[in-house]
Amino acid sequence: MSRFLRASLGADFGYMPGEQPSDDGGWLKLNSNESPLPPSSTVAAAVAGAAAELARYPSPVAEPLRSALARLHVVDPEQVFVANGADQVLDCCFRAYASPGDTVVRTEPGYSLIPVLAALFSANDHAVAVEPDGSLPADFALRPGVLRVVVNPNSPTGRWIEPATLEAQLWEAGGIVAIDEAYSDFAPASCVPLLPAHPNWLVIRTLSKSHALAGLRVGYALGDRPLIADLNAVRDSYPVDRCAIAGAMAALEDRAHHRLIVSTVLRERARLSDRLDALGWRVEPSHANFVFASPPPGISAVAVAARLRDERILVRHFTAPGLDGFLRITVGDERATDRVLAVIAALNG
Ligand SMILES: Cc1ncc(COP(=O)(O)O)c(C=O)c1O
Repeated sequence: MSRFLRASLGADFGYMPGEQPSDDGGWLKLNSNESPLPPSSTVAAAVAGAAAELARYPSPVAEPLRSALARLHVVDPEQVFVANGADQVLDCCFRAYASPGDTVVRTEPGYSLIPVLAALFSANDHAVAVEPDGSLPADFALRPGVLRVVVNPNSPTGRWIEPATLEAQLWEAGGIVAIDEAYSDFAPASCVPLLPAHPNWLVIRTLSKSHALAGLRVGYALGDRPLIADLNAVRDSYPVDRCAIAGAMAALEDRAHHRLIVSTVLRERARLSDRLDALGWRVEPSHANFVFASPPPGISAVAVAARLRDERILVRHFTAPGLDGFLRITVGDERATDRVLAVIAALNG
């Protein structure tokens, strides 16, 4: 960091992503909740086709992808905001709604990018601890704030709150309610059908997980037209490039491949969870594409992560108190589950 960086950000400022190995020497990456399968085979050709048009700027509102997403969710295109990943949608929520000194309410645990954005926008970061079962505390909606972020299913726990329950808990919430549904396709239901009753809600989704497009960077928000207009007012000039628009369109059209990704994750999630449970681990019930679990007494989470790393398997360990006894393991394909379980089973002796 240089001496010119805003002093308020501090020396260690920044979002800490999962490790991205620079070599591809047999690493099994189970640390960033990426898809176990590649994207639809139609994506590469669509991206190559769009590359022929790179001399021209893309549509500023990511058409025709915006309309395709509107059809998928049975809303109007003006209720869809598309950006460079769900992360940029969250960034735009802060740009639109959080002035310096405003309070942003979020849960703890929750997505670790949110406090980083709060610091970046000089907002007051108000973290509220979730209940042990993952539900929101009774007064969550009543905490004053301009923006309230709920991650459902949550990260890193994988806990999920049923939309009707969440709606009851958020009914009285003032300000904007942003529901980050990055992992929603791995859960039984989404909050999208509730949007018509909530003009202050934004539901945020991504193609990074259940469409295997983390490398293409496409995320979006659904909400009432005035909110979507707010996000468009503060967005970058052309947030989604031509290749991303074309690749995302192709991935959305291949519904069978999307279902295959989801069914693979659900099957392997159950297998990984059950087996860890049988090995004496404490496993949080997951509705996402990862499993959050704590090893049995006598085995530390850090030691397991190190042992897995020796075998070129990367998982995520968070150092925050309360999370530090757990590992977040992305659900992989069948071979990945076998590989990670073989190392973990050997630790039990
Ligand atoms: C809760 C949550 N929201 C958003 C994202 C980022 O999504 P995207 O890749 O679309 O930026 C992640 C990424 O892991 C996430 O865990």
